[in-house]
Amino acid sequence: MAKDLTVAVVGATGAVGREMLKTLSDRNFPAAKIKAFASARSAGSRVPYGDKEIAVEELKEDSFKGVDLALFSAGGATSLKFAPLAVAAGCVVIDNSAAWRMDPRCPLVVPEVNPDALDEQRGIIANPNCSTIQMVAVLKPILDAAGINRVVVSTYQAVSGAGQKGVEELERQTRDLFNMREPESKTFPVRIAFNVIPHIDVFLENDYTKEEMKMVNETVKILDAPEVRVTATCVRVPVFYGHAESVNIETQSKLDAREARAILAQAPGVRVSDNPGEKIYPTPIDAAGDDFTFVGRIRNDETIENGLNLWIVADNLRKGAALNAVQIAEELVKRNLVSVKDRDAFAS
Ligand code: A2P
Repeated sequence: MAKDLTVAVVGATGAVGREMLKTLSDRNFPAAKIKAFASARSAGSRVPYGDKEIAVEELKEDSFKGVDLALFSAGGATSLKFAPLAVAAGCVVIDNSAAWRMDPRCPLVVPEVNPDALDEQRGIIANPNCSTIQMVAVLKPILDAAGINRVVVSTYQAVSGAGQKGVEELERQTRDLFNMREPESKTFPVRIAFNVIPHIDVFLENDYTKEEMKMVNETVKILDAPEVRVTATCVRVPVFYGHAESVNIETQSKLDAREARAILAQAPGVRVSDNPGEKIYPTPIDAAGDDFTFVGRIRNDETIENGLNLWIVADNLRKGAALNAVQIAEELVKRNLVSVKDRDAFAS
């Protein structure tokens, strides 16, 4: 069955969509046919898939006929409209936007952390927020070993998290500054070149940003651990690829840095990179282009009884988005779950 899959990438011209196509090809995902969709603007253009190129088609209401599996990364509005249409056509959707993540009908999955949640899928599976994915990959083994009361996270997020237009804005602003031109800010709220911005996504009534609340709520859903209290500050930095996070964890029982290092060294998808004396710690430049979530600077928080500080870095387009989505797809194939049981599950 797996060999006959028709797979679509929606948002195929975007930063994550391109990475999805690359990841599907690099990992030899068992697709008999690949289709690439984007907006009308891109219809007729071509995107790379392995050593070939495929033609981009305009996404339309009837685009999912004959498609078994669709990976979406085209923004929340596109997902809200088209994912239910895909399910109604019998296509399983893995959605990278925030639109469906907190919907109780949609599993929110990091395959190394909560793969069994896929068994409950009803047609739409949500891919978590990029910063959340890399954090839960590290939190899960710590939760299992010692329990977690509280997590305080500050992020340092790359511009590619805002899509291709984020990458282009940092490039353009940097060029403008070197050419004595006043840079214009279109994608980010203020200048990102040679700056850091404590503002990602919109502000909410509680004065947190939506990005910060995604980390709070998604972490609890993925870990299925309502007792874990999370507080976040999300910051955009002038880095092209790779999100970094400073994370403080208060565990329920004592877990010292040495034990945490040993546990994390065994954790799936995680690489410990922690020898500060030798200048060994993860940075976005090392993590970019890699599939692992890197963790370093693991040390005891000396201000509380049971506390750890650590530093987590991953490629936001790969583990934070495209790779996680493809790993979900692989897990669905493995579990024989590439089928829609109830085509009306998302009918409005
Ligand atoms: P397009 O390139 O035609 O605008 P990024 O996250 O890098 O900004 O990419 C967003 C992706 O989502 C692009 O592939 C973009 O296509 C696609 N997209 C945006 N709006 C729509 C839409 N209404 N229908 C289909 N694809 C869309």
